[in-house]
Amino acid sequence: MNKKYNVAVVGATGAVGETIISILDQRNFPVDNLYPLASANSAGKKVFFQGKSWTVQDLDKFDFSQAQIGLFSAGGSISEKYVPIATAKNCIVIDNTSHFRREKDIPLVVPEVNEHAIADYKNHNIIANPNCSTIQMLVALKPIYDAVGIERINVATYQAVSGSGKKAIEELTKQITSLLNGKEVDVSVYPKQIAFNVIPHIDCFQENKYTKEEMKIVWETKKIFNDENILVNPTAVRVPVIYGHSEAVHIETKNKISAKEAKELLSKANGVTVIDKCEDGGYATPFVEATNFDNTFVSRIREDISHEKGLNLWVVSDNVRKGAALNTIQIAEVLIKKYI
Ligand code: A2P
Repeated sequence: MNKKYNVAVVGATGAVGETIISILDQRNFPVDNLYPLASANSAGKKVFFQGKSWTVQDLDKFDFSQAQIGLFSAGGSISEKYVPIATAKNCIVIDNTSHFRREKDIPLVVPEVNEHAIADYKNHNIIANPNCSTIQMLVALKPIYDAVGIERINVATYQAVSGSGKKAIEELTKQITSLLNGKEVDVSVYPKQIAFNVIPHIDCFQENKYTKEEMKIVWETKKIFNDENILVNPTAVRVPVIYGHSEAVHIETKNKISAKEAKELLSKANGVTVIDKCEDGGYATPFVEATNFDNTFVSRIREDISHEKGLNLWVVSDNVRKGAALNTIQIAEVLIKKYI
C-alpha cells in the first residue's frame, strides 16, 4: 500500500491555506489525517477535504507529533513561534512566509528551478517557499538563464490584493461598492485607497529606499539561482486585481538570444504556457488567463530596442496558486517521492 502522511495546514482558514487544502485534494496528495489549524477564533469551523468535513483546531493547542508534514501560511510571526515547535516534534515544515527564506542552510525552492535543493531540508526540517513575485519570475526566466545566462533583471510588478490575504480582498471589494454608491471609503489594509488606484509600495521601506517586497525579489533570485552576481532591480506595485500577479520583466542576457529562440525555449519549459501573438488579445492577463491555473503565462516576448542583449517579457501567474499554495505542494510531492 502506498504510504500516507498526516498533514497539518497552518492558516487553514486563510486565502492561501484554503487553496492548499483544495489543491491537496485535486492532486490526490496522499493525506491520511488532515489537521487544519488556525487561531482560537476559528477552532470548531469545518473544512471540506477528501469528501469529508474536518474540524479546524487551535494552532496553539496542537500537538505537532501527530503530523509528519506541516504547511505554514499564517504569517511570519506565527512561523517564527510555531515552526520550531513543529520541527522539534519531527514534523517537516514547508513555510510560506518570509521568516526563514534568507537563512543560509534552509532551502528556498521553486521546483522548476532548483528542485535539488529540497535535499537540504535535513538541515533544519524546514523548506522555505519563496515570495509569489519571485516564483513566477524565475519559472519564466530559468530556461533563458540556462541557455544564455542573465546579467541583469529589471522588473515592475503589478500585484493582486489576494497576496495580502482575505482582509485585503474584502477591502478592495468594499471600497468599489462604496465608491459606486457615492459613499466614502474605509482605508485600513493599505496606506491609500486601492479601488480604482495603484499603490507603488508593498511591505515596509528599507534604508536603501526600496521596499522589503522589492528586496525579497533581489535576495531570493540570488539564492534560488545560486548566483550572487545576478543584478536585480525591482519596483513592486499593488493594483486593484483580486487574483493574479503580472510582471513587466526586462532582462539583459550574457549572450544574445533572439525573441524567436526565447519563445521556442519557453514553449517547451516546465510550468510555462506561452501566449504571444501580436494581435488584439494575444497575451495573458491575470483574471482571464491565469486565475485558477497552475502554469505561469509568458507573453509580449520581444527584443529590447534599447539594448543589444535585452529581452522583454510579460509574466502572469495566479499568485495564491503557483505563487504560494501550489508551489508548496509541489515541494511536498518531491519530498515524499524522493526523501521521506
Ligand atoms: P483565523 O482565520 O483564525 O484568523 P489570510 O492570509 O487570508 O489573512 O489568513 C491568515 C491565516 O492565518 C488564517 O487562517 C488565520 O486564522 C491564521 N492566523 C492568523 N493569526 C493566527 C494565530 N495567532 N494563530 C493561528 N493562526 C492564525
